[in-house]
This record gives sequence, C-alpha cells and structure tokens, in this order.
Amino acid sequence: MLVLGIETTCDETAAAVVERRADGSGRILSNIVHSQTAEHARFGGVVPEIAARAHVDLLDGIIGQAMKEANTGFAELSAVAAAAGPGLIGGVIVGLTTAKAIAMVHDTPLIAVNHLEAHALTPRLTCALAFPYCLFLASGGHTQIVAVLGVGDYVRLGTTVDDAMGEAFDKVAKMLSLPYPGGPEVERRAAGGDAKRFAFPRPMLGRPDANFSLSGLKTAVRNEASRIAPLAPQDINDLCAGFQAAVLESTADRLSVGLRLFHERFGPPRALVAAGGVAANNAIRDALQEVATKAQTTLIIPPPLLCTDNGAMIAWAGAERLALGLTDTMDAPPRARWRLDADATAPDGYSNTRAGF
Ligand code: KG4
Ligand code: ZN
Repeated sequence: MLVLGIETTCDETAAAVVERRADGSGRILSNIVHSQTAEHARFGGVVPEIAARAHVDLLDGIIGQAMKEANTGFAELSAVAAAAGPGLIGGVIVGLTTAKAIAMVHDTPLIAVNHLEAHALTPRLTCALAFPYCLFLASGGHTQIVAVLGVGDYVRLGTTVDDAMGEAFDKVAKMLSLPYPGGPEVERRAAGGDAKRFAFPRPMLGRPDANFSLSGLKTAVRNEASRIAPLAPQDINDLCAGFQAAVLESTADRLSVGLRLFHERFGPPRALVAAGGVAANNAIRDALQEVATKAQTTLIIPPPLLCTDNGAMIAWAGAERLALGLTDTMDAPPRARWRLDADATAPDGYSNTRAGF
C-alpha cells in the first residue's frame, strides 16, 4: 500500500509517500521537509501564527514535490494520513483539512494520525522491530517514556511535569544569548566547558516514578548566570556544560526507572528507542547507550531526519493503521492536546501542563 503523510503540527511543513509491503516492511519513496527555523529564529522560538501562515503558503508545493519525487499520482494512493495533533492548532488545521480535501476529491481513505504515535512507530519503518519496545521521546514539545505494545496500544510510563527537554535547552540558550534553536548550540558550547564548575541540581534523581522535571534546573542556570554576569565566553561554556551534565544524569536515572517499570509490567522490551530532536545530542546518545547496556537491551535511534518531525513517520503510522483497517471519517477533529494513551490517567496524578503533551 502507498500512503501520503502530512505533518504540520509545529514548525516543519512536511509531506512524504511511504510504501508498506504485505510482509510489514516499509520503504520511503519521498520525504520532503521544510523547516521554518529561519522564519522563527529572530523571535527565539516558534510563533504559532507565523507557523500556521507558513504552512498555508508552503503545504501544497511540498505535497506536489513529495508526489512527484515518489513518481506517483493521487489515484494510486491507498490512503492519505495527516497529523491531527497534538500540536499548534493552526498548523494542525492546515494539514488535516488539506488531507481531508485530497481524500474527498480522490475518494481515498483518511487517517488522522496522532503525532506521538508516529514518533513511536517510526523504528518499525527503518528496521524490522517487533513489539513491545520502550520509547524515549524528547523534543521541543514532548518528553515522555512510552511502552509501545502494539499499533494503538501505548502506555505512558513517564512524562515531564513542567518544561520539555528541548524547550529547556532552547531557554538556556536564550538566557545565555545563544542563537535558536538552542540545543545544538548548547551542546557545542558544553564541549568546551567545565561541567563541574557549577553545582546544578539533578532533577528527580532517585524518585520511584519515571517523570522528568527541567524547570528548576533551568532556573538554577539563570541564577548562576546572573550571579557571575557579565559572562565571558568561557563562563557560557561552563554553564552549558554544567546544564547538559545535569540533564544527562537526570535522563539516565529517569530512563533506568522507566525501563524497570516497563520490565515489571510488560516483560523485557525488545529495544530502547530514542526519537525527537534531543536524540541528536551526542552526549545524550552516549548516556542512552549506557542505560540500554545496563538494562541488557538494544538502543535504536532512527536516522536524524526520521527522529525530528517529518512526513514519512505520519505516512508510516497511517499505513500501520490502514493495515489493521483503522481509518477515520471526515469529521475527525484537529486536536491541540491528544494523549497517546488517551484513556489512561497520568502517573502520580500528574497531567502535563504544557499543551497536554
Ligand atoms: O523534534 P524536533 O526537531 O521538533 C519538535 O520540537 O517537535 O526537536 C527540536 C528540539 C529543539 O528544542 C532543539 O533545541 C532540540 O530539539 N535539539 C537538541 C539538539 N538538537 C536539537 N537538544 C539538545 N542537543 C541537541 N544537539
Ligand atoms: Zn515531534
């Protein structure tokens, strides 16, 4: 089956055509991603209204390009999939409405994909990974540990109680006057810094649940930065190194707990999978490798273009759902908030405060 996937939940305008073969394997025929980073950079973060307008301007062209590169026509498609949330509602509406229009005109099934489900299923597109496995998703909008038990069968084991991890990297970068997006810049500066100079807290260390917290650490960095201001380049390096080391230690601890909870409830996971922009951080990759080795499981990190937001992951999730006969009707709603394990209650009674991710 051939599925067109559309992604517009944040600041990437993306479309892709993916094939799913009868044996369950996948092949990407095209994957076009336009990142709007340049449009948002001068504001130091994503501006929802600018993002939505850019999606309107760009999406038709991106879809046309994806179809052309895949050398296929709308009549050949088995389904059209769009990310229906969670995300910035203006962008979600643009992508989902476009998908509905294509589905209606070409009499093709519509699949309204949960963006988080798409991240969760991506490793099955690139390698023959069987269920169940453990997902660590860390991006600008999400920080979660999820047990992926089957298509449509997810249990959230941990989440951030305040900021998302990528968001914390971006905010630290902003307070140190580093350019947006901050993650890669903080990683670069940390490489030349002394991680031991500042005694930053290790959030949630040793707690029995698998939740994250990043806002206290972020405030600690801000306090140190104002205490020693004005900042010399080496001060910035040391602050970045200290912040990143604290994130690493906390992440390793939270993930070991997450893997233990996974094991207790579902038996051994087939792999630990990392996704989201933060998974591009080399120091975090090393820390994840250590956690996976200790837990006697394999670490899988999809290639960077499939870790960050893209259309192929939406198309693939659509194909996985279509293979099970799961399609949606034309009244499928766009959703700003949409928990992956929609019926579950949050661990410890927490509900994520930031956009319901
Ligand atoms: O998945 P993504 O491309 O987009 C969404 O947020 O959905 O993730 C972007 C986030 C940004 O917050 C960015 O600062 C962070 O991922 N990021 C990193 C690195 N590269 C990107 N964080 C830490 N280290 C990096 N090398
Ligand atoms: Zn994402």
